[in-house]
Amino acid sequence: MDTAPLPFPVPGERTSDTIRRLRDEHGPVLPVLLPGEVNGWLVTSYEATDEVLANDEALYSKDARNFTGLHDGTVPADWPLRQVIEGDHLLTKDGADHRRLRSLINRAFTPARVAALAPRVQEMTDELLDRMAERDGEVDLVTAFTEPLPVAVICELFGVPREERAQIREWTGVMLSHAAAPDEVNAAAGSLLGYLAAFIARRRREPADDLTTGLIRANEDDGGRLSDNELLWILWVVLVAGHETTVHLIAKAVVALCADPAQLDRARTEDAWEQVVEEALRSRNSVVGLVFRYPLKDVTVAGTTIPAGRPIVVGLTGAGTDPARYGPDAGRFDLGKAKEGHLGFGRGPHFCLGAPLARLEARIALSSLFGRFPGLRLAVRPEEIAYTASIITEGPLAVPVLLR
Ligand code: HEM
Repeated sequence: MDTAPLPFPVPGERTSDTIRRLRDEHGPVLPVLLPGEVNGWLVTSYEATDEVLANDEALYSKDARNFTGLHDGTVPADWPLRQVIEGDHLLTKDGADHRRLRSLINRAFTPARVAALAPRVQEMTDELLDRMAERDGEVDLVTAFTEPLPVAVICELFGVPREERAQIREWTGVMLSHAAAPDEVNAAAGSLLGYLAAFIARRRREPADDLTTGLIRANEDDGGRLSDNELLWILWVVLVAGHETTVHLIAKAVVALCADPAQLDRARTEDAWEQVVEEALRSRNSVVGLVFRYPLKDVTVAGTTIPAGRPIVVGLTGAGTDPARYGPDAGRFDLGKAKEGHLGFGRGPHFCLGAPLARLEARIALSSLFGRFPGLRLAVRPEEIAYTASIITEGPLAVPVLLR
């Protein structure tokens, strides 16, 4: 090991910048000190990311029982990241357990269900843009557009009635808020879980054409192996994994396009919105790091040995902007690179379950926004935009724009 563990994240520096800097200064794999002084490892290059993800299950587990420090007294009982990694859902399961759960969800979350959502996503997008159009002067795109849209889409997917959506938005808003106190966040999360539990019970009595009913039916066809509590965690992980990621990706793509009028022009004239989404997933991903993978034995990645049982953060941002893979200007948002592929949705058994929906939603949101407001521009310089601080997702706290 040629470096002592370096703090990660670094206060005052955007997580995506930290990952890139650590890649350039310290190479593809390095020991880091996670929040709470917990020892971990960070993977920063495309090749090393690809190698780790390709060996999920064979060499790496997502199950926190394989994180040694969590069980031997090294990691404090109140370590905040425990909440994220000790839940019982897709992202914390391996092998047969994971496959069973994922195949059950796949039977309910079908390509047809996603395709059927397209006209509703367009309508919900247009409703938000209509409301924005009534306003004069500066508008914050995050509160007016990028934050409400994904939660509305997930409510539509789950089948939550319109009149109950404002409440869901409020709870998820508190959960996402980076200014809310921990007990406020816990209270909102508790209320949301309580709502979802009652909603599953309601859909048992009153089935409808939605994902919740689809999950209940798929489970019944499977012999009813999952309890309502397990179904609840499925809805929960879809909501959590599908919400903030999409909010931030759309906002980051808006900032990238506004910061480079030539790229925006190209997106418009070539109607290249699918490429805009792919390029944002590569060079401006909202998911900056994946938590966690635990080596099942000592592993060597890009020449560095990581001991068994240590938590690894896979720094997707580092992979997406790696000059060794994408050339010297890898960090630039460049529609010409959209065809080169990326790991923005991961790979292997945990590949993003919501990728088709995320792609559809981001494409409709961006093409409709820039179509509706041809004069849209940032009201501040891109460098003045502040970003959320997390080792998992990153996005602008606010994007002040002028619509005309
Ligand atoms: C731009 C938006 C999105 C991005 C960048 C994104 C990215 C990712 C990534 C990188 C993973 C892999 C995690 C890992 O390997 O540790 C993942 C998993 C997942 N995503 Fe997404 N996601 C997005 C939107 C969505 C949406 C809209 C949904 C659902 C509606 C969703 C549901 C999930 C679920 C359930 C998993 C866990 C899959 C598993 O472990 O088998 N995501 N996502």
